[in-house]
Amino acid sequence: MILVTGASGTLGKEISRQLTQEKRDFRCLVRKTSQIKELEEMGASLSYGDVTDKESLRKAMQGVTHVISTHCLGMPKKGLSCWDVDYQGNLNLIELFKENGGGKIVYISAIGSALHSPFQLHKVKRLVDNALTVSGLDYTILRPSGFFSDFTMSAKVVQKYHLYPSMGRGDHKVQGIHVGDLAYCAINALDNSKASHQAFYIGGPEVLTYTQIAATFAKVLGHNVRVFPIPMGFIKFVGWIVDTFTSYRYQIQGFAKSFSKESICDNGPLLKTFDIKLKTFEEYLRDYFAK
Ligand SMILES: NC(=O)c1ccc[n+]([C@@H]2O[C@H](COP(=O)([O-])OP(=O)(O)OC[C@H]3O[C@@H](n4cnc5c(N)ncnc54)[C@H](OP(=O)(O)O)[C@@H]3O)[C@@H](O)[C@H]2O)c1
Repeated sequence: MILVTGASGTLGKEISRQLTQEKRDFRCLVRKTSQIKELEEMGASLSYGDVTDKESLRKAMQGVTHVISTHCLGMPKKGLSCWDVDYQGNLNLIELFKENGGGKIVYISAIGSALHSPFQLHKVKRLVDNALTVSGLDYTILRPSGFFSDFTMSAKVVQKYHLYPSMGRGDHKVQGIHVGDLAYCAINALDNSKASHQAFYIGGPEVLTYTQIAATFAKVLGHNVRVFPIPMGFIKFVGWIVDTFTSYRYQIQGFAKSFSKESICDNGPLLKTFDIKLKTFEEYLRDYFAK
């Protein structure tokens, strides 16, 4: 039995969809407030719980031999931070999985994970990576770049105004990943012994600047799309205001600092371990607008 945490999220839903297609035995950890319509339509088995509540997690873990951990706090709420959900939540998962007899755990980290990151979430991700390596469990860590779906958050603006909002001047490099490819690797890692006790960076097959992303929109939509540059200084200033007045709940400055570095990686080790042809942004975009 596979337990998927964060099953109602972007990646969790895709993993659940692929597990359903493969007719695998799996259970989704969801909260009472989660949007579960699509999971219900798939016929997925649901277990209500919260990674910060050990008792609910213990129930969800019954009979579980494999875990895919994708949960994350997302938009921070008052009184909760990534230290509660992403850090302690994963430590709870590791502890209870060991109590349960253990098995294989696949953890979704992030390309920017680093102990000295200015962005707390990325610090937390690397601490969880490290906790897994000494847990005694069989594990695979996947460190993805930003999902292609993040690049289409402004798709309506692109269609209406022919502008693609970009952090900085448009020359910033990213290597977005198709969420379907990430889900495939997370599932494949469960039984792939070559992936055991390893961490893999995973990005798409190409490195693109925001100017090239705008050009890909233009190619797929068949009209001109210009980059609308949002100066880093402006993002940092807004970040300073938001952070100051929300007691650093959203960490906009840390986020901007971390993401102002290029998010690119070497897919070599991943491609040697997983039999996958990674989708390009253009392929993703054609599917996105065809729907
Ligand atoms: N999105 C990206 O570009 C990106 C890039 C690199 C790495 N990642 C990592 O990839 C993973 C998946 O990201 P995503 O974009 O799919 O996330 P997402 O859409 O924001 O989904 C987050 C999931 O976590 C669940 N969750 C939040 N708090 C919880 C709690 N206390 N107990 C149990 N579940 C809880 C949410 O449940 P509700 O539905 O109830 O809120 C939701 O299902 C995350 O670990 C993320 O950090 C994402």
